[in-house]
Amino acid sequence: MSAKLINHVQSTIAPNDHPYMNAAWTPNYDEYDAGDMQVIGEIPKDIDGVYVRNTENPIHEAIGRYHPFEGDGMIHTMSFADGKAEYRNRFVRTKAFVAEQEVGHSLWAGLMERPDKSLRQGWGAHGSLKDASSTDVIVHAGQILSTFYQCGDGYRLDPYTLEQYGAESWVPLDGISAHPKLDESTGELLFFNYSKNAPYMHYGVVGADNKLKHFIPIDLPGPRLPHDMAFTRNYSILNDLPVFWDPELLKQNIHATRFYPDIPSRFGIIPRFGGSDSIKWFEADPTYVLHFLNAWEDGDEVVLDGYFQEHPVPAKYAGASPEFERMMAFLDQHKLKPRLHRWRFNMKTGQTREQSLDDPLLEFGTINQRFGGVRNRYCYSAIPAEGWFLFTGLAKHDLEQDRSWSVPFGAHRFGSEPAFAPRAGAQSEDDGYLVSFITDMNENRSECILLDASDIEAGPVCQIILPHRISSGTHATWAHGEDIRAARNHNLNHNQARN
Ligand SMILES: [Fe+2]
Repeated sequence: MSAKLINHVQSTIAPNDHPYMNAAWTPNYDEYDAGDMQVIGEIPKDIDGVYVRNTENPIHEAIGRYHPFEGDGMIHTMSFADGKAEYRNRFVRTKAFVAEQEVGHSLWAGLMERPDKSLRQGWGAHGSLKDASSTDVIVHAGQILSTFYQCGDGYRLDPYTLEQYGAESWVPLDGISAHPKLDESTGELLFFNYSKNAPYMHYGVVGADNKLKHFIPIDLPGPRLPHDMAFTRNYSILNDLPVFWDPELLKQNIHATRFYPDIPSRFGIIPRFGGSDSIKWFEADPTYVLHFLNAWEDGDEVVLDGYFQEHPVPAKYAGASPEFERMMAFLDQHKLKPRLHRWRFNMKTGQTREQSLDDPLLEFGTINQRFGGVRNRYCYSAIPAEGWFLFTGLAKHDLEQDRSWSVPFGAHRFGSEPAFAPRAGAQSEDDGYLVSFITDMNENRSECILLDASDIEAGPVCQIILPHRISSGTHATWAHGEDIRAARNHNLNHNQARN
């Protein structure tokens, strides 16, 4: 199979100079299936599974100013088996995608506009935004689940064909946040949501059988903006951080994000199936954490690794046009200044210890997800470009021996959040590959690269050239072929038993 154009979605966006609709963020409107692509190097035979990445890819001219977090969700996949690879990309057919296709224009105003500019009621915590399903992606119960950071539906797609199954039925009415977590050891999915209405947060667990097992309210002091969560084998870790919508302005339906440096960060640790009363709250230094890496139990302590932001609400971006200076600042990791950080929560004493683990600015990290919830030695982070929501390389940390390595993607080449793909028969935690999509502005093309995770500085093992240059994007994940097949067999047997 060579590249086959499956569909073209018509855009209504006029040529413009928006910083996040041009260059490496130029949206795509062609949907492809491709195999037999040009490969520089050789695709290893010991990799089996699918790399899945979400992308904010706007279709229609925005109502007012466009913010890249609102772009319509587009999933890109590269599946690997037997030394071969196949690429696919599709827009997520969300309810909003379908509604806007019917009318041929945007129906929802974005993050930077007044909510009353939206032509229809929106979704999630904000209430007036479009659920674009463009933030995060994970594979659970054999299917992709794409999500939106301000809460919305969870959309299901087949990881190999990108066949679309629509909105997931167990998602509660006020939606789920981005960053539900998969515990690969049990197949369970842990999730949370948040809203402007008391109790302001909920937490839930979905089984490997894709049935909702647990769903409880979590009381917060007011509307909050959590983005991520973490888990250990026995606990889930939620957060109440001092970055949230100004409560006074919120009464006027104005969503202004503020940092309250006099309010401590709070982390809530709850047994996986615990009731609302069983959550234990720990205080820590004020910050905002966009993403966590992993958590694990160590005696009386729960250990949590993530990225601690020094400036959660940054100064305006000098040099940008006035209408975008705030947006540009929030998208610049060099302004937010996130660094690798470790929190230790003592479950017996209630005390928190915390420390910075390294100086470089890093975010959008991953681990070998087989170690999710247990002690991991290695983590892999994306190196942010100065001034832009783009990544210029990857860094690997050995958290036990306090060593690190890095690899640049090269000038004018921008990668996506890496995912770790274990090698078949892997003997150690870093025995596998790091996968990323690259948008190469030199060659005007995109590629999927594999790096040997045990030696990232050696450079790519292979570069698979995509049929088109793709927009830079957001979160990515790796789904093991064996897990997808096991989930499918389970569902098949389950359905046959039912019939
Ligand atoms: Fe995220």
